[in-house]
Parts: sequence; C-alpha cells; structure tokens
Amino acid sequence: MPHEYIDHINKKTMRGSVAEYARQNTLTKSEEAALNYVSDAADNPILDIGIGGGRTVAALRRVSKDYVGIDYVNEMVMECRKKFPGVRFEQRDARKLTSFENNSFHTIMFSMNGISMVDHEGRMEILQEVYRLLSPGGVFLFSTYNQDSADYRKLFRFPEFMFSKNLLKSGVRSLRYACNLLIAVYNRSRFRRLETYTDEYFIVNDKCHNYATMLYYITQANQYKQLTSVGFDRDIIAFDSSGNLIKNGTPDDSIFYIARKPSSAS
Ligand SMILES: C[S@@+](CC[C@H](N)C(=O)[O-])C[C@H]1O[C@@H](n2cnc3c(N)ncnc32)[C@H](O)[C@@H]1O
Repeated sequence: MPHEYIDHINKKTMRGSVAEYARQNTLTKSEEAALNYVSDAADNPILDIGIGGGRTVAALRRVSKDYVGIDYVNEMVMECRKKFPGVRFEQRDARKLTSFENNSFHTIMFSMNGISMVDHEGRMEILQEVYRLLSPGGVFLFSTYNQDSADYRKLFRFPEFMFSKNLLKSGVRSLRYACNLLIAVYNRSRFRRLETYTDEYFIVNDKCHNYATMLYYITQANQYKQLTSVGFDRDIIAFDSSGNLIKNGTPDDSIFYIARKPSSAS
C-alpha cells in the first residue's frame, strides 16, 4: 500500500483529535516503569517525538529541562506551544530529522504507539534517524502495537456505550453512539481493503478513532530484530501495559520498549 494513504488517513485523524489528546496529562504505567529504569536520563538532552497534545511534556521536563518536542501535525505543535509557553516545540517528521545533529540526544521517546502510524519503510527510517541522533549509550523509549494480542483480529468492534440513569444524558449518549457506529462502519468499509499482512508485520485498519487509523502491528521477536538490525544493543527491555517486565510474551495490545545505542558506537 503506498505510504501516502497511511499518512493521509492517520494525519487527518490526528488533526481532528487535538482536543482529545490535549485533555490527557498522566503517564501510563509502562512509561513510568521505563523512566524509572533509565536512571541516566536526568539533566541530559531529551527528544520527545509525537508530542500530540503534550501529555508527556511535563513529566519529561521533570527529568531534564534540555527538552525538544516534535510532531508532524502542526495543530499538535500549536497546542503544545499554547499549553507550555517558552518550551521548544517544532513541526518535524520523525522519518527525516536532518535539522538535528548526530549524537545530540541522550533520550528519545516516541510514546503511545506513535511509531505505529507510519508504513514499514517509514518505521525503518525512524529507527535509523533515532539511532543517528542518540549519543553512544543513549536510549530510545517507545511503544508499539503487539501482533501477539488478539484484540485487533476481531472483524468489527462496536463503539462502547456508557449507560446513565439520567434520561437526558442517556438520550444524548444514544445519539452520539449511533453517530460513532455509523462513522465506524463507513470507515471500516473504506479502509479495510488497505490492510497489509506480511511475515514481518501487519498494517491493520484499527478500531482506534472509530476505525480512522491504519496501524502497524509487530511481534516482540520481530521488533527486537528490527532494532538490532539498525545497531541497537541486543539487551532490549520490554514492559507490558501494567508496567511489568515481559518475560514470556504478553497478550496486551501494546508493548513499551527500551533500546540502547551501544556505548562503543560512534
Ligand atoms: C497516538 S498520538 C500520541 C500523542 C502523545 N504522545 C500522547 O501520548 O498523548 C501519536 C502522535 O504521534 C504523531 N506522529 C505520528 N507519526 C509521526 C511522525 N512520523 N513524525 C512525528 N510525529 C508523528 C501524531 O501526529 C500524534 O500526535
């Protein structure tokens, strides 16, 4: 599938989701566990990729004030500038980060499965760019969708309905539910045929945002292979959604990884 389709679908959905992402400001359990694990990040340069509405900004700036946040959607960057005046945010695509120099960050984070929003070539470009930008011994923290989870295999997932005893609330929620269901069915009928299944990864028309995303799913084993193929250390750490180290796989739909650039690298 040409990557323009994926970019078009995912960027459009992100542009329409700024307010939703801007409401969030707490770290997930796996992010907390990963940041606790990386004790050498303190006061060192941090690049936060895919900042969205700024959920991770305050937490990462507590680790280091030497912080830059980027997103390929300008509306997300504008929202972060409004919320955090004086903090450095730039509109940049993680596939091409030529404005940043080699070895310039100790920590790079791409949270909430943001790396899953590009196609396979784009993903490999991101891994190579992140590796180039990390200083020797630096760490890449990111989450990505887990191909070993059963969740995405369901043919269609109905939107959730929240019951209320209040009649007015119930009426409004029913209307909203009907709209969401129609949008989900419409999106699914358009985007399902764009799905891609290979031995290394799947790109799936995912339930997120009422089926308005195309997302990359990969097994833990294949993710390790990709990371080591661009030069990351073999000693990769993975956390499940509860923030526990993964020892024998996980059915969770997302995995949080820590990959380190070898200290001996140039
Ligand atoms: C699922 S949202 C998460 C936002 C935020 N990190 C959070 O956790 O709330 C993923 C974000 O990554 C951004 N993104 C996806 N691909 C990107 C790329 N190639 N370069 C820069 N940003 C990207 C999207 O625009 C979106 O804001």
